[in-house]
Amino acid sequence: METFQREMNHNREEFRRTKWAKHREQVTGLFDTVFSKQASVDKIGIIGAGNCDDLDLDHLATRCNSIYLFDIDKESMINGIKNFSESTQCKIQLVEFDVTGLGKVNFEQTLTSMLLNGEGIENVLEYLLKTNEHLSEIIHKEFAEYIGSFDVFATSAIYTQLFYNWAVDTLEKNKHNYEQMELIRIKDGFLDVRDQIVLNLQNLAFKCCTTKGFYITWTDILKMKPEYTQTTNQGINAIFSLASNVGYGAALLAIQDYMGKVDRREFSLCHWLWEFNEDKQYLTIGLLGKMKN
Ligand SMILES: C[S@@+](CC[C@H](N)C(=O)[O-])C[C@H]1O[C@@H](n2cnc3c(N)ncnc32)[C@H](O)[C@@H]1O
Repeated sequence: METFQREMNHNREEFRRTKWAKHREQVTGLFDTVFSKQASVDKIGIIGAGNCDDLDLDHLATRCNSIYLFDIDKESMINGIKNFSESTQCKIQLVEFDVTGLGKVNFEQTLTSMLLNGEGIENVLEYLLKTNEHLSEIIHKEFAEYIGSFDVFATSAIYTQLFYNWAVDTLEKNKHNYEQMELIRIKDGFLDVRDQIVLNLQNLAFKCCTTKGFYITWTDILKMKPEYTQTTNQGINAIFSLASNVGYGAALLAIQDYMGKVDRREFSLCHWLWEFNEDKQYLTIGLLGKMKN
Protein backbone atom coordinates (compact mmCIF):
# COMPACT_ATOMS: atom_id res chain seq x y z
CA MET A 1 0.00 0.00 0.00
CA GLU A 2 2.90 2.30 0.87
CA THR A 3 4.55 1.54 -2.51
CA PHE A 4 1.24 2.19 -4.32
CA GLN A 5 0.86 5.53 -2.55
CA ARG A 6 4.50 6.49 -3.12
CA GLU A 7 4.13 5.85 -6.85
CA MET A 8 0.98 8.03 -6.90
CA ASN A 9 2.83 10.80 -5.06
CA HIS A 10 5.90 10.60 -7.32
CA ASN A 11 3.83 10.51 -10.48
CA ARG A 12 3.06 14.22 -10.40
CA GLU A 13 3.40 16.97 -12.95
CA GLU A 14 6.41 19.22 -12.84
CA PHE A 15 5.51 22.63 -11.39
CA ARG A 16 2.50 21.16 -9.59
CA ARG A 17 3.20 23.32 -6.59
CA THR A 18 2.85 26.42 -8.79
CA LYS A 19 -0.32 25.08 -10.41
CA TRP A 20 -1.87 24.43 -7.02
CA ALA A 21 -1.43 28.05 -5.88
CA LYS A 22 -5.18 28.79 -5.73
CA HIS A 23 -5.93 25.51 -4.00
CA ARG A 24 -3.16 26.24 -1.48
CA GLU A 25 -4.63 29.70 -0.82
CA GLN A 26 -7.98 28.11 0.03
CA VAL A 27 -6.29 25.65 2.39
CA THR A 28 -4.30 28.47 4.00
CA GLY A 29 -7.58 30.37 4.40
CA LEU A 30 -8.93 27.51 6.54
CA PHE A 31 -5.90 27.73 8.83
CA ASP A 32 -6.16 31.54 8.96
CA THR A 33 -9.80 31.29 10.07
CA VAL A 34 -8.70 29.05 12.93
CA PHE A 35 -5.78 31.38 13.84
CA SER A 36 -8.29 34.25 14.08
CA LYS A 37 -10.23 32.22 16.68
CA GLN A 38 -7.22 30.81 18.62
CA ALA A 39 -5.19 33.20 20.76
CA SER A 40 -2.12 30.99 20.72
CA VAL A 41 -1.13 27.90 18.78
CA ASP A 42 1.65 25.66 19.98
CA LYS A 43 1.39 22.48 17.86
CA ILE A 44 -0.13 21.83 14.43
CA GLY A 45 -0.55 18.30 13.03
CA ILE A 46 -1.33 17.48 9.40
CA ILE A 47 -2.11 14.00 8.05
CA GLY A 48 -1.62 13.31 4.33
CA ALA A 49 1.07 15.98 3.93
CA GLY A 50 2.63 14.07 1.00
CA ASN A 51 4.54 16.44 -1.28
CA CYS A 52 3.26 19.42 0.77
CA ASP A 53 2.06 21.13 -2.44
CA ASP A 54 -1.21 22.21 -0.81
CA LEU A 55 0.51 23.58 2.31
CA ASP A 56 2.05 26.99 2.93
CA LEU A 57 4.27 25.72 5.71
CA ASP A 58 6.30 28.96 5.88
CA HIS A 59 3.10 30.79 6.76
CA LEU A 60 1.90 28.15 9.24
CA ALA A 61 5.31 28.12 10.93
CA THR A 62 5.04 31.83 11.76
CA ARG A 63 1.92 31.01 13.79
CA CYS A 64 3.07 28.03 15.88
CA ASN A 65 6.03 26.39 17.63
CA SER A 66 5.96 23.02 15.89
CA ILE A 67 4.36 21.25 12.94
CA TYR A 68 3.97 17.46 12.79
CA LEU A 69 3.52 16.12 9.28
CA PHE A 70 2.17 12.57 8.92
CA ASP A 71 2.00 10.38 5.82
CA ILE A 72 2.40 6.75 4.81
CA ASP A 73 4.98 8.03 2.29
CA LYS A 74 7.84 9.66 4.20
CA GLU A 75 10.02 10.09 1.12
CA SER A 76 7.57 12.57 -0.44
CA MET A 77 7.45 14.59 2.78
CA ILE A 78 11.28 14.69 2.95
CA ASN A 79 11.33 16.16 -0.58
CA GLY A 80 8.25 18.33 -0.01
CA ILE A 81 9.64 20.28 2.93
CA LYS A 82 12.73 21.29 0.92
CA ASN A 83 10.52 24.01 -0.63
CA PHE A 84 10.39 25.81 2.72
CA SER A 85 12.79 27.98 4.66
CA GLU A 86 15.35 26.58 7.06
CA SER A 87 13.63 28.15 10.04
CA THR A 88 10.37 26.47 9.00
CA GLN A 89 12.10 23.11 8.55
CA CYS A 90 13.49 23.40 12.09
CA LYS A 91 9.91 23.40 13.40
CA ILE A 92 8.84 20.34 11.40
CA GLN A 93 8.71 16.71 12.59
CA LEU A 94 8.06 14.08 9.93
CA VAL A 95 6.14 10.99 11.01
CA GLU A 96 5.78 7.96 8.75
CA PHE A 97 2.30 6.82 9.66
CA ASP A 98 -0.33 4.55 8.14
CA VAL A 99 -3.76 5.71 9.31
CA THR A 100 -5.44 2.46 8.24
CA GLY A 101 -3.68 0.32 10.87
CA LEU A 102 -3.54 -2.47 8.27
CA GLY A 103 0.26 -2.58 8.32
CA LYS A 104 0.11 -3.88 11.90
CA VAL A 105 -1.74 -7.07 10.89
CA ASN A 106 0.25 -7.95 7.78
CA PHE A 107 -2.90 -7.27 5.76
CA GLU A 108 -1.26 -6.29 2.47
CA GLN A 109 0.73 -9.53 2.15
CA THR A 110 -2.14 -11.74 3.34
CA LEU A 111 -4.81 -10.26 1.03
CA THR A 112 -2.43 -10.13 -1.94
CA SER A 113 -1.52 -13.80 -1.56
CA MET A 114 -5.20 -14.79 -1.07
CA LEU A 115 -6.22 -13.06 -4.32
CA LEU A 116 -3.15 -14.33 -6.18
CA ASN A 117 -3.96 -17.92 -5.19
CA GLY A 118 -7.65 -17.54 -6.02
CA GLU A 119 -8.70 -18.18 -2.39
CA GLY A 120 -12.43 -19.00 -2.10
CA ILE A 121 -14.73 -15.99 -1.93
CA GLU A 122 -16.19 -16.92 1.48
CA ASN A 123 -12.69 -17.07 2.99
CA VAL A 124 -11.75 -13.71 1.46
CA LEU A 125 -14.92 -12.07 2.81
CA GLU A 126 -14.44 -13.68 6.22
CA TYR A 127 -10.87 -12.32 6.32
CA LEU A 128 -12.07 -8.80 5.46
CA LEU A 129 -14.77 -8.98 8.12
CA LYS A 130 -12.36 -10.20 10.82
CA THR A 131 -9.84 -7.49 9.95
CA ASN A 132 -12.57 -4.88 10.14
CA GLU A 133 -13.50 -5.95 13.67
CA HIS A 134 -9.97 -5.27 14.94
CA LEU A 135 -9.08 -2.10 13.04
CA SER A 136 -10.49 0.39 15.52
CA GLU A 137 -8.50 -1.07 18.44
CA ILE A 138 -5.29 -1.25 16.40
CA ILE A 139 -5.40 2.31 15.14
CA HIS A 140 -6.38 3.74 18.54
CA LYS A 141 -3.13 2.25 19.89
CA GLU A 142 -1.15 3.80 17.02
CA PHE A 143 -2.59 7.25 17.69
CA ALA A 144 -2.36 6.98 21.50
CA GLU A 145 0.72 9.22 21.90
CA TYR A 146 -0.92 12.04 19.91
CA ILE A 147 -4.29 12.17 21.65
CA GLY A 148 -5.13 15.63 23.03
CA SER A 149 -1.88 17.19 21.84
CA PHE A 150 -2.60 19.49 18.86
CA ASP A 151 -4.10 22.99 18.91
CA VAL A 152 -4.85 22.54 15.23
CA PHE A 153 -5.12 19.15 13.58
CA ALA A 154 -5.78 18.67 9.86
CA THR A 155 -6.23 16.01 7.19
CA SER A 156 -5.29 16.82 3.60
CA ALA A 157 -7.50 15.28 0.88
CA ILE A 158 -6.92 11.83 2.31
CA TYR A 159 -10.33 10.16 2.55
CA THR A 160 -10.59 9.36 -1.15
CA GLN A 161 -7.05 7.92 -1.13
CA LEU A 162 -7.46 5.44 1.70
CA PHE A 163 -7.08 1.73 1.02
CA TYR A 164 -9.82 1.24 -1.64
CA ASN A 165 -7.85 2.25 -4.76
CA TRP A 166 -4.97 0.01 -3.75
CA ALA A 167 -7.35 -2.89 -2.96
CA VAL A 168 -9.21 -2.60 -6.29
CA ASP A 169 -5.90 -2.38 -8.15
CA THR A 170 -4.73 -5.59 -6.42
CA LEU A 171 -8.02 -7.33 -7.21
CA GLU A 172 -7.84 -6.17 -10.84
CA LYS A 173 -4.45 -7.90 -11.23
CA ASN A 174 -6.01 -11.17 -10.07
CA LYS A 175 -9.50 -10.87 -11.51
CA HIS A 176 -9.03 -13.96 -13.73
CA ASN A 177 -9.35 -16.03 -10.53
CA TYR A 178 -12.93 -14.89 -9.86
CA GLU A 179 -16.40 -14.77 -11.44
CA GLN A 180 -18.02 -11.39 -12.12
CA MET A 181 -20.42 -11.69 -9.15
CA GLU A 182 -17.56 -12.67 -6.86
CA LEU A 183 -15.60 -9.59 -7.89
CA ILE A 184 -18.60 -7.42 -6.97
CA ARG A 185 -18.90 -9.08 -3.55
CA ILE A 186 -15.18 -8.65 -2.84
CA LYS A 187 -15.37 -4.96 -3.79
CA ASP A 188 -18.33 -4.56 -1.42
CA GLY A 189 -16.16 -6.11 1.29
CA PHE A 190 -13.42 -3.57 0.48
CA LEU A 191 -15.95 -0.75 0.83
CA ASP A 192 -16.85 -1.93 4.35
CA VAL A 193 -13.17 -1.88 5.32
CA ARG A 194 -12.70 1.55 3.75
CA ASP A 195 -15.71 2.98 5.59
CA GLN A 196 -14.37 1.67 8.89
CA ILE A 197 -10.97 3.26 8.17
CA VAL A 198 -12.58 6.63 7.33
CA LEU A 199 -14.67 6.62 10.52
CA ASN A 200 -11.68 5.59 12.67
CA LEU A 201 -9.57 8.39 11.22
CA GLN A 202 -12.32 10.95 11.69
CA ASN A 203 -12.81 9.92 15.29
CA LEU A 204 -9.10 10.04 16.07
CA ALA A 205 -8.47 13.33 14.24
CA PHE A 206 -10.93 15.06 16.58
CA LYS A 207 -9.36 13.29 19.56
CA CYS A 208 -5.87 14.47 18.60
CA CYS A 209 -7.02 18.06 19.25
CA THR A 210 -6.62 19.70 22.66
CA THR A 211 -9.91 20.50 24.42
CA LYS A 212 -9.95 23.90 22.68
CA GLY A 213 -8.34 22.65 19.48
CA PHE A 214 -9.74 22.76 15.96
CA TYR A 215 -9.91 20.00 13.39
CA ILE A 216 -9.58 21.17 9.77
CA THR A 217 -10.21 18.90 6.82
CA TRP A 218 -10.45 19.37 3.08
CA THR A 219 -11.50 16.71 0.63
CA ASP A 220 -12.21 16.28 -3.06
CA ILE A 221 -15.89 15.39 -3.30
CA LEU A 222 -16.39 14.92 -7.05
CA LYS A 223 -14.55 15.16 -10.34
CA MET A 224 -15.86 18.21 -12.18
CA LYS A 225 -17.49 18.03 -15.60
CA PRO A 226 -18.68 21.08 -17.59
CA GLU A 227 -22.32 19.96 -17.24
CA TYR A 228 -22.09 20.16 -13.41
CA THR A 229 -21.23 23.88 -13.34
CA GLN A 230 -24.81 25.14 -13.35
CA THR A 231 -25.65 22.94 -10.36
CA THR A 232 -22.49 23.68 -8.38
CA ASN A 233 -23.10 27.43 -8.84
CA GLN A 234 -26.38 27.00 -6.94
CA GLY A 235 -24.56 26.49 -3.64
CA ILE A 236 -23.83 23.87 -1.06
CA ASN A 237 -27.20 22.06 -0.94
CA ALA A 238 -27.13 21.58 -4.71
CA ILE A 239 -23.51 20.39 -4.45
CA PHE A 240 -24.34 17.76 -1.84
CA SER A 241 -27.31 16.59 -3.83
CA LEU A 242 -25.14 16.25 -6.97
CA ALA A 243 -22.37 14.56 -4.97
CA SER A 244 -24.81 12.01 -3.56
CA ASN A 245 -25.20 10.77 -7.17
CA VAL A 246 -21.77 11.27 -8.71
CA GLY A 247 -19.46 12.02 -5.77
CA TYR A 248 -16.95 10.03 -3.77
CA GLY A 249 -18.48 7.82 -1.09
CA ALA A 250 -15.49 8.11 1.25
CA ALA A 251 -15.65 11.93 1.18
CA LEU A 252 -19.41 11.99 1.73
CA LEU A 253 -19.14 9.59 4.66
CA ALA A 254 -16.38 11.69 6.25
CA ILE A 255 -18.31 14.96 5.81
CA GLN A 256 -21.52 13.49 7.19
CA ASP A 257 -19.66 12.10 10.20
CA TYR A 258 -17.84 15.43 10.73
CA MET A 259 -21.17 17.31 10.79
CA GLY A 260 -22.45 14.93 13.46
CA LYS A 261 -19.41 15.44 15.69
CA VAL A 262 -18.81 19.18 15.44
CA ASP A 263 -20.03 22.01 17.67
CA ARG A 264 -22.19 23.99 15.20
CA ARG A 265 -21.38 27.31 16.93
CA GLU A 266 -17.71 27.07 15.92
CA PHE A 267 -18.17 25.39 12.59
CA SER A 268 -17.56 26.61 9.05
CA LEU A 269 -17.76 24.99 5.63
CA CYS A 270 -16.62 26.22 2.22
CA HIS A 271 -16.04 24.84 -1.25
CA TRP A 272 -13.76 25.55 -4.20
CA LEU A 273 -12.50 24.12 -7.45
CA TRP A 274 -9.15 22.34 -7.14
CA GLU A 275 -7.27 22.50 -10.46
CA PHE A 276 -5.53 19.18 -9.94
CA ASN A 277 -3.87 18.95 -13.38
CA GLU A 278 -4.53 19.68 -17.08
CA ASP A 279 -7.29 17.05 -17.24
CA LYS A 280 -8.77 16.98 -13.79
CA GLN A 281 -10.55 19.46 -11.55
CA TYR A 282 -12.06 18.38 -8.28
CA LEU A 283 -14.82 20.10 -6.39
CA THR A 284 -13.38 20.35 -2.90
CA ILE A 285 -15.05 20.86 0.47
CA GLY A 286 -13.22 22.49 3.39
CA LEU A 287 -14.45 22.11 6.96
CA LEU A 288 -13.26 23.48 10.28
CA GLY A 289 -14.61 23.11 13.76
CA LYS A 290 -14.29 21.84 17.31
CA MET A 291 -15.76 18.61 18.63
CA LYS A 292 -18.96 19.14 20.60
CA ASN A 293 -18.84 18.18 24.27
C1 LIG B 1 -4.17 13.71 -2.30
S1 LIG B 1 -2.77 13.61 -1.27
C2 LIG B 1 -2.91 15.14 -0.38
C3 LIG B 1 -2.06 16.22 -1.06
C4 LIG B 1 -0.72 16.36 -0.37
N1 LIG B 1 -0.87 17.16 0.84
C5 LIG B 1 0.28 17.07 -1.29
O1 LIG B 1 0.33 18.30 -1.29
O2 LIG B 1 1.00 16.36 -2.01
C6 LIG B 1 -3.21 12.40 -0.03
C7 LIG B 1 -2.05 11.94 0.81
O3 LIG B 1 -2.54 10.93 1.68
C8 LIG B 1 -1.50 9.98 1.88
N2 LIG B 1 -2.06 8.69 2.31
C9 LIG B 1 -2.77 7.80 1.58
N3 LIG B 1 -3.07 6.71 2.31
C10 LIG B 1 -2.52 6.92 3.54
C11 LIG B 1 -2.48 6.15 4.74
N4 LIG B 1 -3.02 4.94 4.80
N5 LIG B 1 -1.88 6.68 5.83
C12 LIG B 1 -1.29 7.91 5.76
N6 LIG B 1 -1.28 8.67 4.65
C13 LIG B 1 -1.89 8.19 3.55
C14 LIG B 1 -0.83 9.89 0.51
O4 LIG B 1 0.49 9.36 0.61
C15 LIG B 1 -0.89 11.34 0.03
O5 LIG B 1 0.30 12.03 0.35
